[in-house]
Amino acid sequence: MEFSIKQGSPEKLKCGCVVVGVYEGGKLSKAGQLLDKATGHSLSDVIARGDMTGKSASTLLLHKLAGASAERVLLVGLGKPAELNNRTSVDILRAACSALHATSAKDAALFVTDDGVGKDAGWVLKQAVLAAADGAYRADSLKSKPSKPATLKQVTFITLEKPNAELKKAVAQTAAVTHGMELTKDLANLPGNICTPAYLAAKALALGKAHKKIKTTVLEKKDMEKLGMGSFLSVTRGSAQPPKLIALEYNGAAKTQKPIALVGKGITFDTGGISLKPGSDMDEMKYDMCGAASVLGTLQAIAEMELPINVVGVIPTCENMPGSTATKPGDIVTSMSGQTIEILNTDAEGRLILCDALTYTAKFKPDAVIDIATLTGACVIALGHVASGMFANDDKLAKELVGAGEQSHDRVWQLPLWDDYQPLLDSNFADMANIGGRAGGTITAACFLSRFTKDYRWAHLDIAGTANLSGKNKGATGRPVPLLTQFLIDRSARK
Ligand code: BES
Ligand code: MN
Ligand code: ZN
Repeated sequence: MEFSIKQGSPEKLKCGCVVVGVYEGGKLSKAGQLLDKATGHSLSDVIARGDMTGKSASTLLLHKLAGASAERVLLVGLGKPAELNNRTSVDILRAACSALHATSAKDAALFVTDDGVGKDAGWVLKQAVLAAADGAYRADSLKSKPSKPATLKQVTFITLEKPNAELKKAVAQTAAVTHGMELTKDLANLPGNICTPAYLAAKALALGKAHKKIKTTVLEKKDMEKLGMGSFLSVTRGSAQPPKLIALEYNGAAKTQKPIALVGKGITFDTGGISLKPGSDMDEMKYDMCGAASVLGTLQAIAEMELPINVVGVIPTCENMPGSTATKPGDIVTSMSGQTIEILNTDAEGRLILCDALTYTAKFKPDAVIDIATLTGACVIALGHVASGMFANDDKLAKELVGAGEQSHDRVWQLPLWDDYQPLLDSNFADMANIGGRAGGTITAACFLSRFTKDYRWAHLDIAGTANLSGKNKGATGRPVPLLTQFLIDRSARK
């Protein structure tokens, strides 16, 4: 889908649908008032008849109004001005976009900024772009008859005053974010028999081909053996699929600038290994590579934006399978850092591949490292599907991530990384165990990783609850690509 922003007046726009707001009680937005005048008060007539009350997130579609150049007019309820906030704004935008997608309009003109729907104009614009693109996404690449593609191809945001450069940039950058999210969703929704470690590596190499500023390298099992990645390699032992360690270097700034490293968990299928998972909903463990997919989506987005920053993506990827050669509970392995690990549960495998990837990442001399992982079911219990869990060994980095989360509405909630939790990982036979018991499971997983990240500023995002939805809406969300790109945009603007 294409997005743009320009100045215009609502009655003169030649397009499939023009979208204007109505407040609860029937007051029209500024653009709505102009359109009302031009159409001989057709809008106020409809409102007076009671068909549109302005209730938040309600919609009403009108056709061929005399005096308007657009084929349709979509009225969208904005609710009470005092009740407009981030939450209601997003609901309103989603309702407007789903009503738009239900029409057969090919292009639409939206007035979303003139009344400052809740937040500042840039924020609303970004959310509008995300909502419009989300409604157009289809996960049908493997259906023999593809579903009907979205008819809406072009969304133009119209402002009554000339839009400033900042707003134009917000639209262009968020369009790139939606393209990155599409890549993330496509990869994540693919089943484990197609999206293997080799498939992810091929996609990463293709990204390097498509963008001059991205250089991709792929390490094979023998390379990892040489590096002493005994922890990572222990996870792949039961699988017939060879593991890969992917590194993507995006060079958008001077060579002297230290990169931000993004490390994404890439378990292409998590059966639990010998500590086998229960059968119900196990198919959703194809989403255990969403961290990796979000790294690829984020790199694609910033490459499209040509963001002036250096970023490294590191992706450890393999399958977690049971089998006669698989790792057994009680096995002890030596990580690349030299620390030994007693594997008490082979289903706590994410941390085992991440710890070696995190040690490896030090070689890029990063300014900060963020790992992204569908790491614990406990995180879903703690935070549900709204916020990603966040941990950091640096308060400033944590604050930046919280801020980027608010700005992108792809939010994180910080959990404690206190030393008090560390003894839960004690092992009788090795330097540490790979699990810390049921209590505080998200925290002890982060504590485990913290033992491998002492040499740099680091944050960990547990996206187990936010990367994908279950049930009727089963599918990848594309999160946390909006968060990560916003963080990098903020970083690139930092002097
Ligand atoms: N990939 C899972 C975490 C997960 C669970 C993600 C549910 C999304 C939904 C991870 O590898 C895992 O199995 N974690 C275990 C850890 C436990 C054995 C300490 C878990 O959460 O049960
Ligand atoms: Mn697991
Ligand atoms: Zn897993």
